[in-house]
Amino acid sequence: ASPAETSFKLLFLSVLVPTVLIKHAHQTPGGNVLSLASDPAGQVNFLDMVGNLLGDSGRGYYMEMSIGTPGQKLNILVDTGSSNFAVAAAPHTFITHYFNTELSSTYQSAGRAVAVRYTQGNWEGELGTDRISIPKGPNGTITINIAAILSSDGFFLPGVNWQGILGLAYPMLARPDSTVEPFFNSMVRQLGIPDVFSLQMCGAGLSASNTADPAGGSLIMGGAEPTLYQGPMWYTPIKEEWYYQVEVLKLEVGEQNLNLDCREYNMDKAIVDSGTTLLRLPVNVFNAVVEAITHTSLIQDFSSGFWAGTKLACWMKGETPWRFFPKLSIYLRATNTSQSFRITILPQLYIQAITDVDGTLDCFRFGVSSSANGLVIGATVMEGFYVVFDRAQRRVGFALSTCAVSGGVAVSEIAGPFSAADVAADCSGGALKEPLLWVISYTLMAVCALVLLILLLLLVLPCRRRHHSGEITDESSLVRHRIK
Ligand SMILES: *[C@@H]1O[C@H](CO)[C@@H](O)[C@H](O)[C@H]1NC(C)=O
Ligand SMILES: *[C@@H]1O[C@H](CO)[C@@H](O)[C@H](O)[C@H]1NC(C)=O
Repeated sequence: ASPAETSFKLLFLSVLVPTVLIKHAHQTPGGNVLSLASDPAGQVNFLDMVGNLLGDSGRGYYMEMSIGTPGQKLNILVDTGSSNFAVAAAPHTFITHYFNTELSSTYQSAGRAVAVRYTQGNWEGELGTDRISIPKGPNGTITINIAAILSSDGFFLPGVNWQGILGLAYPMLARPDSTVEPFFNSMVRQLGIPDVFSLQMCGAGLSASNTADPAGGSLIMGGAEPTLYQGPMWYTPIKEEWYYQVEVLKLEVGEQNLNLDCREYNMDKAIVDSGTTLLRLPVNVFNAVVEAITHTSLIQDFSSGFWAGTKLACWMKGETPWRFFPKLSIYLRATNTSQSFRITILPQLYIQAITDVDGTLDCFRFGVSSSANGLVIGATVMEGFYVVFDRAQRRVGFALSTCAVSGGVAVSEIAGPFSAADVAADCSGGALKEPLLWVISYTLMAVCALVLLILLLLLVLPCRRRHHSGEITDESSLVRHRIK
């Protein structure tokens, strides 16, 4: 295409777009998932769970649950990047209803406070337990830990249609500590289903801000449903069981390898997280991607606000901009560690339509953002794939999703195997895990406290003596001066 072609009507609107939804703040083809398609007891019918999600990448995918006795119906956000099951238990401006613990005869308070902070938003509440069932989930009622949210800030947002969050990650991320058994662990233990769940999110190509008609999706609990994907399922090992941490070996923009040290891609972790809207990249990687896209796309005059996520790019209605942008490919370590496979998203997934800013324009936002706390394969990427969280075999599977189609065109690709000989044997080594960091910081705090205590004692003792002589009365100021 000649440069002349790029002189289309392109303009930018300054719009504040909510980008990240919420977040703290990662071979053989086959390994046939079909074997998981029914559980030993034959109690789980995966087809009954198809279509049990509603939502979109911008505001998250949620599932209806019945909580307490008698059951109170609430919509619960599905989040693979946290590990608490928490529901609104008090009114809030942005939600229509909440779980009233007083109306449930089976709710039991544990009398323990709990708080969780996400990349965006936080909440505080009280721990308890109650019985729940899922209308479009496995048959049966289970008793699970619930965090009753009593106050929150930036957690419930305008226009969200969910009132709680289902954290599907591992116990290590549970708050206040890992003894609070996460929802899915309880479900596997009590219903005897296989320790596997899978997610199909179907918002690909739909507007990220269309309230009227939310997209659908499926959370299959207990395995993978064969009708939700086509072609081979590729698995990547779970590096650490806290988030679903995986290992990214390589990134390509178009055909071009970014050629960064593979440790940059996993700095300080790389996770698969349905509760994050965008594909988030460590700053160095993000900058390299933006530069490569700018070179590859025929668009040289893009406002920096577009890449930063503060501006939309708009074209005259009907002029889809996707042909100007390259594909993005992420190479993941395969279960045969000397190999990798690659998942590819087309611009239809990462240049995202925003509806009705103006009647004559189609506006789009950039579905990739920079991150200070690691690479996040968020909803933007997940919408291209059927993703299997195979906890039993400590691996995450990716296959082409049957709904990753826009205007009759597949918006994602998957391919492999590739040799991993050209990258380090371990691309995620060396990163400090969050809990480890806490241990270190608590240790440091304890050491500081001890030193302070000794210092205080040393100061107070002579000071007492001096006090008697009437010289110094203000011990605290003495301490302050000494420390300086
Ligand atoms: C629940 O049980 C009913 C009746 O036995 C069965 O038809 C249905 O498929 C089951 N649902 C699931 C999700 O397994
Ligand atoms: C793993 O991949 C390597 C390189 O492609 C191959 O030589 C080896 O046979 C594979 N191992 C297994 C167990 O498949």
